[in-house]
Order: sequence, then C-alpha cells, then structure tokens
Amino acid sequence: METVSALQPLRERIGAWRRSGASIALVPTMGNLHAGHLALVHEARAAARRVVVSVFVNPLQFGPAEDYSAYPRTLEEDRTALEGAGADLLFAPAVETVYPAGTGSVTRVEVAGLSDVLEGAFRPGHFVGVATVVAKLFNLVQPDAAVFGEKDYQQLAVIRRMTTDLSWPVDILAAPTVRESDGLAMSSRNRYLSQAERALAPGLYRTLQGLARRLAQGERDLPGLERAGWETLGGAGLRPEYVAVRRAGDLEQPGPGDRDLVALASAWLGRARPIDNIRVSVG
Ligand code: PAJ
Repeated sequence: METVSALQPLRERIGAWRRSGASIALVPTMGNLHAGHLALVHEARAAARRVVVSVFVNPLQFGPAEDYSAYPRTLEEDRTALEGAGADLLFAPAVETVYPAGTGSVTRVEVAGLSDVLEGAFRPGHFVGVATVVAKLFNLVQPDAAVFGEKDYQQLAVIRRMTTDLSWPVDILAAPTVRESDGLAMSSRNRYLSQAERALAPGLYRTLQGLARRLAQGERDLPGLERAGWETLGGAGLRPEYVAVRRAGDLEQPGPGDRDLVALASAWLGRARPIDNIRVSVG
C-alpha cells in the first residue's frame, strides 16, 4: 500500500489505474481507524479492483466549539491497519493541500434542507463541510463507488442526495454499523468517555432498540414514542439532544403509508455526544 499526501501523485496513481481499466472504490475517513472503518474497506474491496482510503480531519466540518484540535490523529496505526485490510492507496493530505486558500471563502456544497435537520440543527455548517470535502475527494479520486457507514445515517443521506443532485457517476454504498459487544456503535470519539460514561453509553442503542420494537409491534404515535425514548435516555443517565422517527429515504416526517423508517438519536454523555440509529420496516 502506498501513501500519498500531495495531489499530483494521487492523480498519477489514479490515472494509471484508470488507463489499465481498473475500477476504483473510495473510503473517506478522518482516521483513528477502528473495526467500523475497516468493514468499509472490506466492502470497497468487494466493489472494485482498487481501493483508495482517505484520512483527513476536515476542519470545515467542525464547529468552533467542537473538537477539531483534540480529534485523535493516529496516522501510523491507521497505515498499518489499512495495509492489513488490503487498501491499495492511502491519501493523507495536509490541510493546506485540501484548502490552499484557507476555508474562509472556499466554494461550498450545500445539500439544502437535509443538512439543517436533526444533526444539522445542532451542528450548523457541519454537513456543508462534509459535502464539500467529499465532493473534492470525488473529483480527485473519480471513484466508481464510495463507501459510507450507516452509523452516520444522515451523512449517508446527504452524500446520496449530493451525488444524485450533482450527477456524479459514483455508486454510494452503505455499510452496516459495527458495534462493541454491548451494542455501543464504534466511534473514534468513544475515547472521550470516562469509565463511568462508557458504562452508560450502550443505553443509546438500547433505547433505539426499544423504540424499534414498539414500531415493529404496530405503535404509530410517533411523538409519543419519541417522548418515551427521550425519557428512557434521561433515565439511563444520558442527556438527549434529539430522538426522532423519520422516513428512511429522505429523513422527512413519515406519513401513514410509509413503511421504511429509521429511528435516530443523539445524547450527551460527559463531553462526548454519541449518535446512533436503527432502520425499521413496518407492516
Ligand atoms: P469518520 O467519522 O472517520 O467516518 C468515516 C466513515 O466510517 C463514515 O462513512 C462513517 O459512517 C463510517 N463509520 C464510522 N463508525 C462506524 C461504525 N461503527 N460502523 C460502520 N461505519 C462506521 O464520517 C466521517 O469520518 C467524515 O464526516 C467524512 C465522511 C470522512 C468526511 O470528512
């Protein structure tokens, strides 16, 4: 596996692969890789001949009060993990390479509407930052497919919409959430949890499972279910930010005929704010 940090060698490698007729899959990450990221790499390997993984902590998607400088940067370990997972190329650019003129007035990609609800309501500008950097990566790598995790369900929806709206010939592939044995979704930010907080953290997934069970059993009072989920989280020692049942395709409020739903939640736990979701098909 080769590592490149500049644009020219990246373009050269990609160009050579393209000329040889190889298909390319891209896995965008911010590094500090865990088994959830590596599952995406496996998915990418199954989808294309060549796999490019990017590791870039994207300043544009962090709010001013968020953890941009504290975000764990572990490039050596990431490189070793990616070798083991069979990636072909690691693209690990510096901030100046991605944003040579800074982020202040860089051209942005905004997926209207979808970027402002749920996570977007609590993290203004976050999804513009995500969409912008992923758009740049699509242009640099020109992948046939790109793999994203269902763990960040709204991010996946934003990327899908952006890809359709901007007519990118990229297949967006979704990989299931990889969890710890107690159900907590793996995340680079789980390391912010103290031991006591870590013990409470699976309450988020358990709450969503309870909600999903009630939906599957036919309950349809969505505001009531969301309120119950909110209370369960509070009782489990978490400080909920949102608990929502939405249409799986576009995260709109479900109508009576909608069958494919997703329950999403986020809650504070100390200085961490884990998110999670469960898809539910109702009869
Ligand atoms: P990051 O948080 O590093 O996640 C990279 C990819 O891994 C995302 O598609 C995310 O959904 C997926 N992922 C993270 N934890 C997962 C888990 N437990 N199971 C399955 N997939 C998981 O998401 C980002 O980076 C950034 O916003 C990015 C898309 C790279 C743009 O900067």
